[in-house]
Amino acid sequence: MDTYKTVSQSQTTLTELMIPSYANFGGKIHGGIIMGLMDKVAYVCAAKHAGAYCVTASVEGIDFLAPVEVGEMVSLMASVNYVGKTSLVVGIRVISENVKTQEVKHTNTSYFTMVAMSDGHTPFKVPGLILRNDVEIRRFYQGLHRKQLKKYYQQEESRVKSDFERDETFELLKGERCRIER
Ligand SMILES: CC(C)(COP(=O)(O)OP(=O)(O)OC[C@H]1O[C@@H](n2cnc3c(N)ncnc32)[C@H](O)[C@@H]1OP(=O)(O)O)[C@@H](O)C(=O)NCCC(=O)NCCS
Repeated sequence: MDTYKTVSQSQTTLTELMIPSYANFGGKIHGGIIMGLMDKVAYVCAAKHAGAYCVTASVEGIDFLAPVEVGEMVSLMASVNYVGKTSLVVGIRVISENVKTQEVKHTNTSYFTMVAMSDGHTPFKVPGLILRNDVEIRRFYQGLHRKQLKKYYQQEESRVKSDFERDETFELLKGERCRIER
């Protein structure tokens, strides 16, 4: 029988204090620290939904919208947005809070595609998702749409690679900041 779970059953929040050793040479928090925390919260959320070990297959939309400072509290809110057969998409919203001023910044929203794995290390079927409100329905639909767009981008990438015409490309590169020295 097909099993289904609600979004709230796997929703996960991770909060971490940004300590000085996380900073880069400019004194701001290193992007890799935030990405590592995102991977961790995506794993917890995905594993809770799948009831199985999961691996990260793909990451989309890591745009750093605002710098994070040492001493701020970073919270990562993760929920399952979309499920396929063995894969699921975890949407993660990252905010950073200055505890003294209570200023809250939205620093990222990204989408991690995780794949559930069986003990034999093969993809494993995940439960379906019960959608209980308009936000959950919209996120599921956006997940499906993003998957279709990705397929389209991949096809376009292969087309550009296979149809590469040197002389045509010279024209398209006119005005770009490159100098061809062959
Ligand atoms: C992810 C992985 C298990 C997929 O294996 P695979 O042999 O391609 O498996 P399948 O073709 O059966 O795909 C399984 C599911 O993953 C999805 N998937 C695979 N690669 C994907 C990608 N790059 N982006 C999004 N979804 C992907 C498929 O669409 C499929 O989804 P569905 O079952 O919901 O329809 C395999 O590529 C892998 O082990 N990658 C390394 C993962 C890892 O080590 N991550 C940590 C990196 S540091």
